[in-house]
Amino acid sequence: MLQGVKLVDHIYDALVVGAGGAGLRAAVALGEQGFKTACVTKLYPTRSHTVAAQGGINAALGNMGKDDWRWHAYDTVKGADWVGDQDAIEYMCRDAPRAVIELERMGLPFSRTEQGKIYQRAFGGQSLEFGKGGQAYRCAAAADRTGHAMLHTLFGQALKHKCEFFVEYFALDLILDDHGAVTGVVAVCLDDGALHVFRSNNVVLATGGYGRAYQSCTSAHTCTGDGHGLIARAGLPLQDSEFVQFHPTGIYPAGCLITEGCRGEGAILRNASGEAFMERYAPNAKDLASRDVVSRSMAVEILEGRGCGPKKDHLYLDLTGLPRETIKDRLPGITETAAIFAAVDVFKQPIPVVPTVHYNMGGIPTNWKGQVLTTAKGAPATNEDPETSNLNVDQPVPGLYAAGEAACASVHGANRLGANSLLDIVVFGRRAALTIGENNKPGDPVRPMPQHKLDRCVERYERIRHAKGDIPTAALRARMQVDMQRHAAVFRREDVLQEGVRLLKRDATDFKHIGITDHGLAWNTDLIETLELENLLHCASHTMNAAANRQESRGAHARDDYPERDDKKWMKHTLSFATDYDIHEADIRLTYRNVISQPLDSEMKHVPPAKRVY
Ligand code: FUM
Repeated sequence: MLQGVKLVDHIYDALVVGAGGAGLRAAVALGEQGFKTACVTKLYPTRSHTVAAQGGINAALGNMGKDDWRWHAYDTVKGADWVGDQDAIEYMCRDAPRAVIELERMGLPFSRTEQGKIYQRAFGGQSLEFGKGGQAYRCAAAADRTGHAMLHTLFGQALKHKCEFFVEYFALDLILDDHGAVTGVVAVCLDDGALHVFRSNNVVLATGGYGRAYQSCTSAHTCTGDGHGLIARAGLPLQDSEFVQFHPTGIYPAGCLITEGCRGEGAILRNASGEAFMERYAPNAKDLASRDVVSRSMAVEILEGRGCGPKKDHLYLDLTGLPRETIKDRLPGITETAAIFAAVDVFKQPIPVVPTVHYNMGGIPTNWKGQVLTTAKGAPATNEDPETSNLNVDQPVPGLYAAGEAACASVHGANRLGANSLLDIVVFGRRAALTIGENNKPGDPVRPMPQHKLDRCVERYERIRHAKGDIPTAALRARMQVDMQRHAAVFRREDVLQEGVRLLKRDATDFKHIGITDHGLAWNTDLIETLELENLLHCASHTMNAAANRQESRGAHARDDYPERDDKKWMKHTLSFATDYDIHEADIRLTYRNVISQPLDSEMKHVPPAKRVY
């Protein structure tokens, strides 16, 4: 017992933080290998944000015609605008058909073709014959509720493999020993406020993204970058945080996702005069160009006065030309979403849409085996010059793994292709567990946890629980979200970003003046939202600083003042460190690491950089 807070001890062979698709897939593979595994999750597993994924999962199954995983890999390298790591991209695309068939055997109810095969739809940026053979039909779908079906399937499998779930537990700190190796995680039980110390040599972070750093996003309110916060407080780097994906079709103004699968089935984006404007921006792929291209085109339509509605601030997604049966069979979920959130009958009316924050390409740096990477020297004393910084300093953190949106493998680089996320989570969730199996045995003794780090974690928890400052959590969160929305948007510019850096520093510093009204232990949502806010402030600060430094345009990072991609100077990953455990004391320091441009082996050919046209 410390300062009135109960401490409960646990020992596991492996600990998974997060129970979305990546965490559950890791838990299944750990259980299969005989590891005693716990999964700590702030949500009931089937409420994790994977549930919201609609369109599907890419795999070159070839169910709708000829396909090849190498074409998928080519599209992914190109979609990533050449800052994806080609070894990890090869691993993911090659493993994809196996992963999808495995999900089917586990019970995922995929939609079917007339012949009874898994149905695959068109999705953005997917081509045949290395971009020369036209549109690929590669996205395996369970109507427009693929994530929902996947999450339920994997939860059942994780239970079958005896994973022990700690549901509604919020992870506070990742504890490394004084040599930098993992010793476990401290989490708070939301029900009674007790602190639980999970001792384990192996931790998989699968905590999702941080869309809620922005004012408007497709992400659930729970997407608060909690794994990113654990990493930053442990003195480890985040990677490529500047690359934030805006999904072209968030409902205006509610922000809910309307799947790219609509355009895959034939829906068309239109401006105020009814023009199918994507033909002007991407003459070949049109509405199925990659997301960064479509979102930028939409932003230009709005900026040039061709937006819809009285404020001309959104566009229309038109499904009215689709066969009724297609909408009923393949898009039932968005039919309901459009009716509820936009009062639209999709059979008769277009849906008002606007590019909306959807996904973080950046995150916790890992290699293709799921091992978290850092640099030998830690945070640099000052921001390093990308041209002169030491670029070959990858060091796996012993015992630490990450997968899914929380991680940056980096298979998505500067822009993720739709339906590569559900793939990433199952491929790398499993891969992290296999790497644990290669380096550990069930029952290995756990490393000792340093007491001073445990004490520091408890001190922080108690300090925030009793915070009596004059800034309410909701007020600071709203300010940060506005700053992010205005200063790290679809189009970016030096002066706007530098002002964003200044505002985010002010927001982070003000965390020291936070005040909460509930100081109790049982279901203290005021406290948990404040802890989430500290994580979001980390994510937002890393994003803004990394974006201000990258002086080029690449993928989702579009600079008005540097409109071209600059491979000579910038074909590299940004690594960002927080210099202090507490966000209100921290500066963000940047260094860089090389992109891995060679594939894993000779089965795939290196994809050389080229101009990205759709
Ligand atoms: O549009 C969608 O269905 C989203 C898919 C994705 O982000 O992968």
